[in-house]
Amino acid sequence: MKHILITGASSGIGKALASLYANEGHTVYAGGRDFKKLNLLCRSNNKIRPFICDVTDINDIQLASKNLPKLDIIILNAGDCEYIDDPINFDGQLFARVINTNLISVGYCLQVLLKHLKPNGNLAFTSSSAAFLPLTRTQAYGASKAGLNYLAKSLSIDLKTHNINVSLINPGFVSTPLTDKNTFSMPGIISSDLAAKYIVKGLNKNKSEINIPPLFTFIMKLFSYLPFFIWQKIAVRMIQK
Ligand SMILES: NC(=O)c1ccc[n+]([C@@H]2O[C@H](COP(=O)([O-])OP(=O)(O)OC[C@H]3O[C@@H](n4cnc5c(N)ncnc54)[C@H](OP(=O)(O)O)[C@@H]3O)[C@@H](O)[C@H]2O)c1
Repeated sequence: MKHILITGASSGIGKALASLYANEGHTVYAGGRDFKKLNLLCRSNNKIRPFICDVTDINDIQLASKNLPKLDIIILNAGDCEYIDDPINFDGQLFARVINTNLISVGYCLQVLLKHLKPNGNLAFTSSSAAFLPLTRTQAYGASKAGLNYLAKSLSIDLKTHNINVSLINPGFVSTPLTDKNTFSMPGIISSDLAAKYIVKGLNKNKSEINIPPLFTFIMKLFSYLPFFIWQKIAVRMIQK
């Protein structure tokens, strides 16, 4: 049985992953700031332990990590999404907030948590298919996830010599509190339970990229191979509709 740490496990994809792993008998350290939500989750399965910290605060992560055992899997999944609605009055504070939550925090988590990962362990990052190609209003979120992709891929090269498998998880749309806020249509949306099943299957196979759901992310990838000026025309036409 494995010891698994998941950040951002108080809701959505992380919560579904925590439940799935715990139901298989693994011990899960479930991360988040929301004490009440994490306690409820822990009460649902005694294999789940709370890992309460704000991932944008390295001291908080260090405190929470004090009594961690050696880990088999670390899934850095915590994240948030905010859109730039008015590009002319660009909101720099929003941009900094999103980059801090989705990217800078990952550096802090790596600094504290990588030492806890066993050789032959798995390190996974939840990115987004939004990083495949530039989308409207996604300047902050997309930049944070594109940065995360580079970080994960370059780290996967250096961690190979330490026998650590790195996986990049690229979800399309998954039904969670994060996407519940969206008012636009979300093609190919899947449940967080199905997303968790795909992720566990991919991690069991040490896949370097886990693109879910497969069809939607495949189509996004195809668009990303277009010359940029063609994609730009398509994207502009989509926002003018
Ligand atoms: N849902 C989708 O369609 C979709 C698509 C592509 C990528 N993703 C990515 O998947 C990941 C999970 O998203 P989700 O959809 O499951 O969203 P969610 O339900 O809103 O969950 C986000 C999780 O991140 C945690 N979190 C946020 N900021 C944090 C902070 N500063 N410190 C510690 N924990 C923090 C939240 O915990 P607390 O509130 O308890 O702190 C929560 O557990 C994110 O990285 C997101 O970008 C989601």
